[in-house]
Amino acid sequence: MTILSPAKINLFLAITGRRADGYHDLVSVVAPVAFGDQLTAESRNESHGAESQFTLECDDLEVPRDGTNLILKAARLFGEAVGWKAGVAFRLVKRIPMGAGLGGGSSNAVAALRALNHLSGAGLDHGALTSLAAQVGSDCPLFLHGGPIVMRGRGERVDPLPEAAARRLRGRRVLVFKPNFSVRTAWAYEQMAATAPASYLPAAEAERRLAAWVAGPAGAEELLGNNLEAVVFRKFLALPALLERLRSRFGVATGMSGSGSACFALLSDDAPVAEIIAAIREAWGTLGFVETTAIA
Ligand code: C5P
Repeated sequence: MTILSPAKINLFLAITGRRADGYHDLVSVVAPVAFGDQLTAESRNESHGAESQFTLECDDLEVPRDGTNLILKAARLFGEAVGWKAGVAFRLVKRIPMGAGLGGGSSNAVAALRALNHLSGAGLDHGALTSLAAQVGSDCPLFLHGGPIVMRGRGERVDPLPEAAARRLRGRRVLVFKPNFSVRTAWAYEQMAATAPASYLPAAEAERRLAAWVAGPAGAEELLGNNLEAVVFRKFLALPALLERLRSRFGVATGMSGSGSACFALLSDDAPVAEIIAAIREAWGTLGFVETTAIA
């Protein structure tokens, strides 16, 4: 079977403090977009050892194909959880850039869990899949919902956004773009911890801002905010420089997704997309990534 494994963007991200386990608590509105990788999972009948139960091929040689790949990690956890011993060959068509804050690896892992749940006939319910997904990575559970969600805790607590609020996001066109360098997520969080407590947005304040947006009629523009931007922008000056230029020249609302380095711009129906893309290419060169898509 073949599954689309979408990218995500964080429309709102508030890191609220550090936890006893070293991770950070956050409040985030996250939505999948209509763009992503393609994962194919095929059952194999030939015999194999535990080492080769799950295999992975990918068109992008930069993607690790060993146990560090989240597809294989998720598959191993799934196999152990349901006692499934059959082999599965995964093939991944990679389109989501890595080290981008677009959740590509996490999304791939959830696509693998979905495929295995189907192929094995195990029929794990949503709660069981969520708990497996949370063991793979903080950004995995959000991909078990097909639309905009609110994520809390270290990412394991996921609630659908109330429908009236979700409607203000779904279908909205966005331009997603990434320079030819990455930001390491763990580094960005370390910077937050190093500048604590000033860097954090208190949880009560984050919840108040989120509740005010959910209750009101405001569009996606009014929701945007990400307090990882301060620490990331301080080092990677190309990001704020371009976003500021896009805002002043084209009047678009912009943000960074997760810990970057991918950013996005919300597009109105009459936005001059070709001109905006030209401005991105002019600032960041032609090696970066640019994709026009929509919030799913
Ligand atoms: O969970 P995941 O492996 O995706 O996270 C990558 C790194 O980002 C973690 O090792 C941790 O340093 C940091 N992180 C965090 N708090 C979160 C999510 C990630 O501190 N909620």
